[in-house]
Amino acid sequence: MITSQITKAVIPAAGLGTRFLPASKVVAKELMPIVDRPSIQYIVEEALEAGLTEIIFVLSRDKSKILEYFEDNPTLNHFLSDRGKLHLLDDLKKFQKHCRFQVVYQDKPLGLGHAVSCAKEAIGNEWFFVFLPDDLIDNSPSCAQQMLEAWKTYQGAMVAVMEVPWEEVKHYGVVKAQPISSFVGKVETVVEKPKREEAPSNLAIIGRYLLPPEILPLLAQVGIGALGEIQLTDGLLKLAKNKGMYALQFEGERYDVGNKLGFVEANLAYALKREEMKKEVLDIISLLATSR
Ligand code: UTP
Repeated sequence: MITSQITKAVIPAAGLGTRFLPASKVVAKELMPIVDRPSIQYIVEEALEAGLTEIIFVLSRDKSKILEYFEDNPTLNHFLSDRGKLHLLDDLKKFQKHCRFQVVYQDKPLGLGHAVSCAKEAIGNEWFFVFLPDDLIDNSPSCAQQMLEAWKTYQGAMVAVMEVPWEEVKHYGVVKAQPISSFVGKVETVVEKPKREEAPSNLAIIGRYLLPPEILPLLAQVGIGALGEIQLTDGLLKLAKNKGMYALQFEGERYDVGNKLGFVEANLAYALKREEMKKEVLDIISLLATSR
């Protein structure tokens, strides 16, 4: 485990999740399972593995089940220990042992930049990570660990980026970066959801950000941006201009579990990673492929 003085992870999960309606009407999309655990658990695990122990959820009032999921449940603990299911118990308890959870509320989904601002007091005057729960990144070392490693060298704000097909740049924050090593570039500009012909590159920001507290006053100056929301990207542009910012092309497989296809793909990919399921899952896939 890489250790650093950065301990805080902000996880914004106050969005409406409209792409998962009708299911998201009653179950937060972040609690929908990838195989057998909520997608947000993979994110908290990535944070924990990177040595981040203070987890700050930004939630809407009707998504408090997310915090409940990570809290201790004595009735379930007793049940599992009576039945000797100690591996399940350990799995559930590791969060209380190693993390401290906090919730801040965003009463209206005014945008990702606004969601991060809502965590201002919890962040204080420290460097922090932002993890978007829609982006699962499968790799060892994790994307957050790769960013921390690069941060030791560059000591500057950093976003995780990957190349996406040009026709998809309109869905992302897109950076133009001057390469300074094989994986790292110095960000020159960043644009939220550009049209293909206006995009400065096809390097898209994927949901991992390592930020200094100076981003917070900059976000307070940001007005309404793309989609009528207060965009984190607009704060990042100010940060890149004022203090500099780096973009890291991470290694790893990324799944966008905020959309249906990515969610199905992630379920298959993570099931295939489980030795005990692999063969059956492959059989199911080939059976489905031949029977359609
Ligand atoms: P998205 O806009 O991609 O997700 O926000 P959404 O709003 O939850 O889902 P759709 O588009 O309606 O299906 C990216 C991340 O930022 C959080 C979301 O919860 C998601 O994790 N977010 C977004 C907030 O916390 N607050 C906001 O105001 C907007």
